[in-house]
Amino acid sequence: MPRLGVNIDHVATLRNARGGSFPDPLAAAQTALDAGADGITLHLREDRRHIHDHDLARFCATLTAPINLEMAATAEMVAIATRYKPHAACIVPEHRREVTTEGGLDAAGQFATLRPIVAMLGGAGIRVSLFIDPDPAQLRAASELGAPVVELHTGAYALGRPDELRRLTEAASLTRELGLECHAGHGLTYGNVAAIAALPEVAELNIGHFLIGTAISSGLAAAVREMRALMQAARA
Ligand code: PXP
Repeated sequence: MPRLGVNIDHVATLRNARGGSFPDPLAAAQTALDAGADGITLHLREDRRHIHDHDLARFCATLTAPINLEMAATAEMVAIATRYKPHAACIVPEHRREVTTEGGLDAAGQFATLRPIVAMLGGAGIRVSLFIDPDPAQLRAASELGAPVVELHTGAYALGRPDELRRLTEAASLTRELGLECHAGHGLTYGNVAAIAALPEVAELNIGHFLIGTAISSGLAAAVREMRALMQAARA
């Protein structure tokens, strides 16, 4: 049974829309863990569009469950990661204008940049993963870089691109050969998770946008009922 990491970024997106402290990403993380999530994933972006530095500090000080920090391969992020020492760090490509992490890291093309970063994070006791497309050349580069984990980008599969499930299946099988732990994530929903969760090599799935979106849709009815009840009680 693969572990489930819940990506909490979009609770912070909603909080930041009003600039206050509600909804609280830490409270949402605790709810996710109480409901059976195995860990919490958060992405501290260079532009801080959702998670902020103080979130990471609170998460690391409060949660006992594993925290997976998604981060760009920059000196700033390495300094932050080695300061807070989350359980895991997933290195992702980051482009300022993208709406989400579009495509995997070019582990092969950025080998020289990534090598010292993987070593520094690993040396700090952080379990390093590289977020890559299901491409054998990228998997081999990740292995040569000494990363113990890869997270396979399931975004193209989630968009229904033909052949992606085969690529993911073959990539997952190659992780076993290379001795890499295999994670997967991006764009996973109730409708498409089964084929990925069924891959025997997949040890962890990281899922965010769909879960937070579903929580909003399915929680709205209860929130409206409670507000109506409070309004009625005020007039009683
Ligand atoms: N894994 C990684 C490395 C990601 O960058 C993201 C998106 O932040 C996810 C998983 C989760 O993707 P989604 O929000 O589409 O479920």
